[in-house]
Amino acid sequence: MATLAILSALAEEQQGLLACLSQPVCLRRAGREIWRGGWQGQDVLLALSRIGKVAAATTTTALIEGLGATHVVFTGVAGGIGPGVQVGDLVVATEFVQHDLDASPLFPRFEIPLYGRSRLGCDPGLTALLLRASESAATGLAGQFNQITGRARSTVHAGLIASGDRFVSGAAELHALQQRLLAGGHAPLAVEMEGAAVAQVCFDYGIPFAAVRTISDRADDAAHVDFPRFVRDVASPYALAIMSAFLPSLSNL
Ligand code: ADE
Repeated sequence: MATLAILSALAEEQQGLLACLSQPVCLRRAGREIWRGGWQGQDVLLALSRIGKVAAATTTTALIEGLGATHVVFTGVAGGIGPGVQVGDLVVATEFVQHDLDASPLFPRFEIPLYGRSRLGCDPGLTALLLRASESAATGLAGQFNQITGRARSTVHAGLIASGDRFVSGAAELHALQQRLLAGGHAPLAVEMEGAAVAQVCFDYGIPFAAVRTISDRADDAAHVDFPRFVRDVASPYALAIMSAFLPSLSNL
């Protein structure tokens, strides 16, 4: 039987999802609380990734090795750094790169040593379903989104996401990061702190993985939207709306 693990970055996001689980049971692995229950006929595990690549890798390994997850989906927030990627937009990952990985001169910058590649792709089938669920959530939440941002609805983007153990929060820092990535042939749409690690663990175990991020900031010094309010009013409803649309589409897992 398939077991879908849903990793959230924020407790606020997980709370909404937890309310959807039938007969939820709390399990403990690696010091983490992981919830297991039913949702739309699926066996579902809910976990918080924690922050940073190592913490996210530990959580993912516990879900797969300890609890038998067969599919992994991530929902969280990210800094938008691609052209036209605005606060409140959604970015569905097609691939991940670690922007802080540099084993040069032994390996080219950004290359994952011994993997022969710098990017890890998400599962195409799962990603297509997540993209459709994200579009449906963006349409469904347009009214609420408009009240907060003044824009009609959020745009759903799909593409490369960069992960690293750093909260990127300055225009100069962001510019330097983008220049380094571009020199390596990478132009990510968003930056966050966990996705590439989850992708690598799933790659190692041969587990399909997909990820979506709500854009909470532009990774610069201008705060367009108050972060706590953004999380409560935008990120959490999106996580719930996306997963509510995504789960029914998994009937053929
Ligand atoms: N998650 C949300 N915003 C981020 C940023 N600016 N940098 C890294 N991770 C983030």
